[in-house]
Amino acid sequence: MTGARTVAAPQEYWERYYAEQFRFGLGTEDILAALVQVPPIHRWADLGCGSESLLWAIALRAERLVAVDADSQRLAILREFAAVERPRGIHRTALTLCGRTEPDAFVNRCRSLKATVVADCLTGAPLGDSILAATKVELVTQFGLLGLCSSEQHFLDCFAAVHQLLASDGWAAGANWVARDLAERVELTEPLYWQAAANAGISLLLLRRIPSADPEFPAVWTYLGRKRHP
Ligand SMILES: C[S@@+](CC[C@H](N)C(=O)[O-])C[C@H]1O[C@@H](n2cnc3c(N)ncnc32)[C@H](O)[C@@H]1O
Repeated sequence: MTGARTVAAPQEYWERYYAEQFRFGLGTEDILAALVQVPPIHRWADLGCGSESLLWAIALRAERLVAVDADSQRLAILREFAAVERPRGIHRTALTLCGRTEPDAFVNRCRSLKATVVADCLTGAPLGDSILAATKVELVTQFGLLGLCSSEQHFLDCFAAVHQLLASDGWAAGANWVARDLAERVELTEPLYWQAAANAGISLLLLRRIPSADPEFPAVWTYLGRKRHP
């Protein structure tokens, strides 16, 4: 696996960040507000998804989700949670924040999870056909994956590589937390995002650095963009 280590082990991460209570002030509500702007789409790939895709799925309206991560344990947590089809407290708050009040909203999001795939998404090379059976998607997201890159060049390479999965006119969205301790991690800056998006053929519609109350991660960058026609 290429890149810096994730801040906590699978079960601890799931309990710390995605447990019963929605924690306001960490940027989550801002990320959800960015995601609700994406129109309904058919195919969505969430890269470096961990066990958390269903939180972001609440804001989105995707029919088919392929969840990809290097860690099979995190994917197992995601699959088990999706199978139960019951939202935790954080999900109930997100449903309200996103105006997803229809009775089956969460169940439908759980059922949209069509596949989980173990893959390294930080090699800087295009992801293999095993992920999507050569079919492009209308939305590529990553939340906390590309922030694990070790240098600006690594970030540029991986940003371009992961968005090769995207169909023309497709949507790119995500967020990356800024670690207080940058050891082993790329320093995320506005010019770096603009450069990465330009290289990947993506027009950014939104790019924001949101302050966070988390002392370990004092800010989070969130973005939304659209792949240009070739
Ligand atoms: C900060 S966590 C973010 C998890 C989740 N997306 C979220 O919204 O909280 C980073 C995730 O990236 C995964 N990851 C780390 N390196 C990876 C790699 N090289 N390829 C694919 N996934 C990776 C980790 O297993 C972890 O699930």
